Amino acid sequence: MYSLLSVLILLLCALLAAQIYLFVKYRKIKKIHFRNLRLLRSLTKTINSVRYGNLYERVNDEISEIFPNLAQSVNSMIESIVDREDMIKEYQNDLSKKINVLKEIEKLKEDFVATLTHDLKVPILAEKNMLNFLLDKRFGELNEKQTEALLHLKNSNKELVELVEIILETYKLNETKIELNHEETNVNSLIEETIEEMRPIADTDAIQIKYWTEFDRKIKLDKFYMKRVLKNLILNAISFSNPSSVVDVALCNDNKNIYIKITNYGKGIKKEELKHVFDKYYTTAKKFRKVGTGLGLYLSNKIIQAHKGRIFIESKDHEYTTFIIELAQ
Ligand SMILES: Nc1ncnc2c1ncn2[C@@H]1O[C@H](COP(=O)(O)OP(=O)(O)O)[C@@H](O)[C@H]1O
Ligand SMILES: [Mg+2]
Repeated sequence: MYSLLSVLILLLCALLAAQIYLFVKYRKIKKIHFRNLRLLRSLTKTINSVRYGNLYERVNDEISEIFPNLAQSVNSMIESIVDREDMIKEYQNDLSKKINVLKEIEKLKEDFVATLTHDLKVPILAEKNMLNFLLDKRFGELNEKQTEALLHLKNSNKELVELVEIILETYKLNETKIELNHEETNVNSLIEETIEEMRPIADTDAIQIKYWTEFDRKIKLDKFYMKRVLKNLILNAISFSNPSSVVDVALCNDNKNIYIKITNYGKGIKKEELKHVFDKYYTTAKKFRKVGTGLGLYLSNKIIQAHKGRIFIESKDHEYTTFIIELAQ
C-alpha cells in the first residue's frame, strides 16, 4: 500500500515538474515570438522608408545581431540602390548639360538664319524698287519681251519677299508671344486686297483665283497677321495646284463663326501627312522642285490660335485640298 502511494506521489511530482518545465519553455517561446514580430516590423519600416526615398535608412543593430545574414543582405541592397541613384543623377546632369548645349546651338542657328534673312531683305527690296522703276519706263521704253522678262522677275522677287517675311515672323514668334492688335476689319475687303497682291504670282503658273462671298460685315481681328495667314494659304494653294487650274476662295458664316475656305486642285494631302503639315519645318516643297521652308502653316496656325480660332483641312488624294479658317464673329 505504502509503495503504491509513493509511486503515485512520484508520478505526481514528475507531472508537476514537466508542467513547470513546459510553462517556462512556453514563456520563453512567447518572448522570442514577440521579439521576432517587433524586429520584423522594424525591418518592414526600414524597407518602406527606403522605398519612399530615404536612402540614409539602414537595418538596426538588434536585427543585425540576431539575423546577421538577413541584415547584411538588406543593407547591401540599400547600398546598391544608393549607387544606382548616384549614377542616375550623374547621367541626368550629363543629359541636361547636353540638352542645354543643343538648345544653345539651335538658338545660334536660328539667330544666324534670322540675321542673314534680315540682311537679305534689304537687297531684295532694293531689287523690287528697281524692277518697278524699269517697268514704269523711267529708264526708257521696253519692248514686249523685255517687259515679260521683267514681270517674271518681279513675281519671283515677290515670292522671295514673302519667304523672307515668313522666316522673320516665325523668328519673332520664337522670341516673344504674338501680340494681336485687334481692329474692326472688313474681312471681305481684306481677302480681296490679298488676292490682288497674290494674283501676279498666280499668273506666272496660269492659275486663276476665284472669290465668292455673301458676308460683308466687320469683325475684330489683327489685319497684319490675318493677311499673313491669307497670303500663306493662297501661296500654298498656288504652289501645290495643277498648272492652269483654279484656286477657289470663299467667305461664309453661320450663327457663330465665319469661315474662310481656300481650295486648290492638285495632288491633295495624304491622310498620314495631314497630322504633320502644321509642324515646324515640315515641307514637301523640294519634292515638287519648289522653294519651301515648312514655316508657313506653322506660323499661320499659331496666328489663328492667337485669334482663338482654328484651321482645319479637307483633302482628297489627287483631287483637291481645302484649308478652312474658322473665326468667331
Ligand atoms: N494647298 C496645299 N495642297 C497640298 N499640300 C499642301 C498645301 N498646303 C500645304 N501643303 C503641304 O504642307 C506642307 C507645309 O506647308 P508650309 O508650312 O506652308 O511649308 P512650305 O510651303 O514652305 O512647304 C507643304 O510642304 C505641303 O506638303
Ligand atoms: Mg508655304
